[in-house]
Order: sequence, then C-alpha cells, then structure tokens
Amino acid sequence: MDLESVKRSFYKDVERANTGDDIEKIRIAYLGREKGHITLILRSIKDLSLEEKRVMGPLANELRQEIESILRIRQGEFHSLSREATTIDITMPGEKASLGHIHPLTQVENDIQGIFKSLNFAFIDGPEIEKEHYNFDALNIPLHHPARDMWDTFWLKTKSANRNERLLLRTHTSPVQIRYMETHKPPFQIISPGRVFRFEAIDATHEINFHQVEGLMMGKSVSVANFKYVIGLFLKQFFGKEVEVRFRPSYFPFVEPGFEIDIKIKNKWLEVMGAGMVHRKVLEGVNYDPEIWQGFAFGLGLERFAMIKYNIHDVRLFYSGDMRFIHQFN
Ligand code: PHE
Repeated sequence: MDLESVKRSFYKDVERANTGDDIEKIRIAYLGREKGHITLILRSIKDLSLEEKRVMGPLANELRQEIESILRIRQGEFHSLSREATTIDITMPGEKASLGHIHPLTQVENDIQGIFKSLNFAFIDGPEIEKEHYNFDALNIPLHHPARDMWDTFWLKTKSANRNERLLLRTHTSPVQIRYMETHKPPFQIISPGRVFRFEAIDATHEINFHQVEGLMMGKSVSVANFKYVIGLFLKQFFGKEVEVRFRPSYFPFVEPGFEIDIKIKNKWLEVMGAGMVHRKVLEGVNYDPEIWQGFAFGLGLERFAMIKYNIHDVRLFYSGDMRFIHQFN
C-alpha cells in the first residue's frame, strides 16, 4: 500500500471506532511490530534507491507520528468517557467556582458610606481632573498663597475647554464641597469619597494616589459640638468600640477654626483627618450668608482607616495587585 491510501484507510477506521478496544486494534493494524501497515512501509524503505529514500523516509515517519498522536487522543477520549460513566457520584459536592471579591479599600469605603447614610448624609461624586479654581481658589487658597505648598500638585498640560483655566489632578476631595454648595441651598449634609493625587515620593505611608472621604454639613446652627458628636459616633461604629478622640488646632485655609483629629490606638495617637468650620470667605464665594449658614467640613484618609482597622503597615500593598494580600480580605 502507498502512503496516501494507508492514510485514507486509517482515518476511515478511526471514524468507525466505538471503544478503546477498537482503537487498540487499529494501533496494532497500523503500527504493530510484525505486520503493521506503517511498519511494513518503513521496513521497505531500505530497499529503495537513495533518492527515493530521501523522499519517502520523512513522509512515512511523518505519517507514523500523525497516526500515533491521533490514536493517543482518541484513546484518551474513550478512556475518560468510560471513567465518567462508571464513577460519577452525584452526591459529591460540586467544584467550587472561585469568585472575585471586594478590595479592602472598597470594603472600608462601603462601611464608611453605610455609617454616614444612617446619619442621613447624602453621597456625592466629584471629578478627579479638577479646575484650579475648585481645588484651590474657591477654597480660599489663591495663587501664590503659601498654603498651596501643602498640596504637591500634578498639573495637566491641557487647559479646560471653555475658559482656558488650568487643570490638575485634585489633591483632595474638598473641591466637591464647592461644587455642591454652588448648586444647592442649605441645610444639607453630604459625604464624597474619591481618589486624590499628590506629587510626592512614595514610601510605606505615602502614595501619589490615595483616597479621601470628604464630609460637609451645613445648617443654621451647626457647630463644632455637632461635628464632635457626628465624628464620635462614626468612629465608634467604624471601629466597633469606643475610641479616644483628640482635636488638635491646625490650619487649613478653607476652615476657621481648623483642627486635626487624632485617635488613640494601642496607646498611640494617630492622625486620621483634617476638619474645621467652613471659612466665611468660602461661604461668601458660593453666595451663602455667613451670618445665617454655618457648617463643618472634614476630610479623612481612606487608606489610613483601612490600615488601622486591618493592621496594615504599608500603603503600597493596596495597589500592588498582589493576590496574597488581597485574598486576606475575603
Ligand atoms: N482637604 C484637606 C486635606 O486634604 C482636609 C480637610 C478637609 C481639612 C476638610 C479641613 C476640612 O488635607
């Protein structure tokens, strides 16, 4: 038989095979050591002329390999079929599909949102690419104000489409305060979680991108006492126990008075947020009468809260994409 017809009859035989035994028979018929078709062809090659050998040798070997691999595949199929048929146990628990899960930062953000929702705070979103006006000027930080140095800024090369304003990656969530006040009348209370950016060197406690949650409560008689109560309640719910809180006088151009809030964890004071009573210049800028409306604002670091709650020592882990880290928060 020539190679072509051997090949054709092989495929016909394989197609007709119904069991692993059939495949074994085919294997013997074609590759059997004594009388296999391929074996015989390979054996006869030695009698050919040198030129014929050069052509036939590789062709015959190729066909042999092809036949071997087809037989291996078909045999495997019959094998697993028969195994399935005999050993399937419908009482066995199914294979567990691995599901994705929520990133610890999102988890903490959801927790914080839930707590403030229960205190009737609305959830507001703001843009990450921000105008200089909202990130600085409207927050009482005019150009050349030394306080601008508090926020190392990524500036964009492009300017805003309409008014040729400078654009930046927001350095805090406070611009959302202005955007909201411009378009809403008090009283209200809002929170706005989101990503912020700082042009800083990265280390275990600094990232160029991190997250804040801004809070703002506006009303006719909102005071520091209200803030102290709200934030005390929030901290207690977030950490699941009473935490010691300390207000330290501090400076932010958009609040007066301003403070930093520390909490005591394992006998150490940790700074967790900036806050204060909204500055009257900010109120005037959005056409609120400071004689009537007052409010408190705060900005807390999401990573900070997650690190304290879960005892994480390096902020870089949150963005590492390291599954060993992420899987600990199932
Ligand atoms: N925006 C401030 C910061 O990023 C925090 C802050 C928010 C302070 C609101 C006071 C009031 O540092």
